[in-house]
Order: sequence, then C-alpha cells, then structure tokens
Amino acid sequence: MHVVITGGLGFIGSNFIRAVLRDRPDWRVTNLDLLTYAGNPANLADLERDPRYRFVKGDIAEPADVARALEGGADAIVNFAAESHVDRSILSAEPFVRTNVVGTVQLLEAARRLGSCRVIHISTDEVYGALGPDDPPFTEATAVNPTSPYAASKAAADHLALAFARTHGQDIVITRCSNNYGPYQFPEKLIPLMITNAIEGKRLPVYGDGRQVRDWIHVEDHCAGVLAVLERGRAGEVYNFGARSERYNIDIVARIVSLLKVQRELVEHVVDRPAHDRRYAMDAAKAEQELGWRPARSFEQGLADTVRWYVEHEDWWRAVKDGSYRDFYRTWYEERGP
Ligand code: NAD
Ligand code: DAU
Repeated sequence: MHVVITGGLGFIGSNFIRAVLRDRPDWRVTNLDLLTYAGNPANLADLERDPRYRFVKGDIAEPADVARALEGGADAIVNFAAESHVDRSILSAEPFVRTNVVGTVQLLEAARRLGSCRVIHISTDEVYGALGPDDPPFTEATAVNPTSPYAASKAAADHLALAFARTHGQDIVITRCSNNYGPYQFPEKLIPLMITNAIEGKRLPVYGDGRQVRDWIHVEDHCAGVLAVLERGRAGEVYNFGARSERYNIDIVARIVSLLKVQRELVEHVVDRPAHDRRYAMDAAKAEQELGWRPARSFEQGLADTVRWYVEHEDWWRAVKDGSYRDFYRTWYEERGP
C-alpha cells in the first residue's frame, strides 16, 4: 500500500503519518508538503531515516508537484494540506482559495488520471456554519452554510470532491472533524497559544465573552478515524468526527491556567473575531456505527496530556514562536534538496 499524504508536516498530517507507519508497518508513505509557515520538518524528525517514508516538497495546486509525489502510482491520497487558520482567512482569503480549492481540484484530477486511486479529503465541521445553544449537533445531512472565508474555501472543496465522485465515479470520501488538539499544533490556535503564552507569562487573549463553544477531539482520535475511513469508508460518503466534548473557550483557558498554576489575571478579553461562529457540535454516530470507530480519550485527560507535552517540548514551540524553525527548515532543505 502506497499512500500519498498531503500537508504531512503540519499538525494533523504529521500525527497521521506517525500513526500510519506505527500501525501499518508494511505501508509506504509519500508526504507532499509546501512547507508554508505551518509546515515544520521538526514535526517528523523521528521518521527522517525510515525507508518507508518519502518527502516531496511541493504545492498541491501545481500539477507538476503533484505528479512528482504520485510517481510510480499510489493506492490512495489523503489530503490534509490546507490553509487552516480562520483569523488568517479574514486578513487575506486568496491563499485559502488557491490551496484549499484549486489545490484540491488538482489532486482530484491527478487521482482521476491514475484510475484506481482512493481520495480521502479532510474537511471540517466549520462547513456547516454555527449552531444555536439548543440546536442538535451537525449530522452529515446538515446543509453546508459556511461563515468565514476559511470555511467557505473548505466547503467549496467538499462540493468539488463530491461532484468528482458523482460525475466521474471516482472513489472519494470526505471526513469532517471538530476542533483538534494535541502535540505539534501550531501555537496560533487556541489551546497551544494559551499553553505557551501561560508558560511565558504572557496575556491570554480571549475573543469577546469567551462563551463560544467548540467540540474538542484529541488529534490521535481524529487520526484513527481517518485511517478507518481510508480502509473502510464508503465511496461518495461524508463522515463526521467529534468526541462529544463541547466546552466554552473561557473554561478551557481557565483549566489551562489551573493546570499550569499561573495567575488568572493573565486572562484578557479582547475584541471578538468578526462573524465569530458561536457553537459547533458534531454527531459522529455514522462513523461509530459504520466504521466501529470511537474516540479513546476524555477531554480532561487529553488536555492534561497536551499541557504536559508542551511543557516537555519547550524547544519545539519556542523555535516556532521565535521563527527560528524556519532557519532549521532552510538548512534541512539545503541538505536534502527536493
Ligand atoms: P496545519 O495548518 O497545521 O498544516 C497544514 C499543512 O499543509 C502544513 O504542513 C503546510 O505546509 C501544508 N500546506 C499548506 N498549503 C499547501 C500546499 N499548497 N501544498 C502542499 N502543502 C501545503 O493544518 P492542520 O490543523 O493540521 O489541518 C489539517 C487539515 O485538517 C486541514 O485540511 C484542515 O482544514 C483540517 N481540519 C483541521 C482541524 C483542526 O482543528 N486543526 C479540524 C478539522 C479539520
Ligand atoms: O472546527 C474545526 C476547525 O477548528 C478547523 O477546521 C480549523 O482548521 C481550526 O483552526 C479550528 O478553527 P477555530 O477557529 O475553531 O480554532 P481556533 O483555535 O482559531 O479558535 C478556537 C476558539 O477560540 C474560537 O472560538 C476562537 C477562540 N480564540 C482563538 C484564538 C486563537 C480565542 O478566544 N483567542 C485566541 O487567541
């Protein structure tokens, strides 16, 4: 089995590659990653010399780069590559359209040319829009209604993936997951930002009243779900993933403050994100029933483990926050070439 995984030097992709090579020892993985600000070779430094792992630096929106990754054929493509941060999409939407929409189309076209290549397209709960406080969780039948430019670009890619499945009969499956947390998450996202700022004694910026709700899942539980879809998901289907762990942002920040024993005064309410979705929640019954998948971690345990991981991996996140991870990348890339 040869799987091409895109965006494998980011947060979820790197966790997924590590899990695949641990749990499927006879598989080969090619990682196609552009090394944007979110891609960090340190995330997979432990696999550098693994003969089952190949890295290709390239852009999913460039057909020649995609062709290089697919050289010799592939049984499946798992598309994690994306511009993933909502706040950045509010500042500038164009890179989101290029990678998330155009890039996805290039992968779908390349898989079509290969003929028998399964595509797992990694999407998000944000395509469904926001829930009210008493609404039931999103199911796969919920209408897509994205709010941010990020979510709209992911929704456009989802429509294209389903259109290719229907029009060309391609073997394509979509996963939509709720908010992930865990090791190697870029410290622009809520949980790693709050943990690392707290350790540094910096302010903890909570948007608005902090009463927005997200449905948190540990990244390893999400990765187990993606592997189950890759192996057992039905073509042309969408599978939701979530861990029934709805939490207010402000409560998560308070828990991090308490786990790290820092002063509560670090918490500062700041101006809210424009059009900030108030609540997400996922109904993952379809994945549970069809795939036999279940999240293994409670949020409380997972958050405590994650706080400990950041405490024990200060070198990793300090290099990201001070920008020196980019120097590491330059040296690493000059030594290896594409
Ligand atoms: P991330 O920002 O940490 O990583 C993205 C990776 O993609 C980086 O390694 C980056 O270098 C690479 N990349 C970006 N543009 C590229 C391009 N044009 N060509 C090749 N590589 C490119 O993202 P993440 O948080 O790991 O998210 C991965 C996927 O999961 C995304 O599709 C995202 O929409 C989805 N998702 C994320 C979450 C979450 O909570 N983080 C939840 C649900 C779904
Ligand atoms: O729901 C899945 C999505 O989760 C993924 O598709 C996205 O790729 C991922 O970035 C994430 O989006 P969110 O916008 O929910 O995540 P973020 O970590 O940016 O913010 C989580 C919540 O915390 C959100 O309500 C905004 C709030 N927040 C965030 C930051 C960075 C703050 O209050 N302060 C902050 O500094």
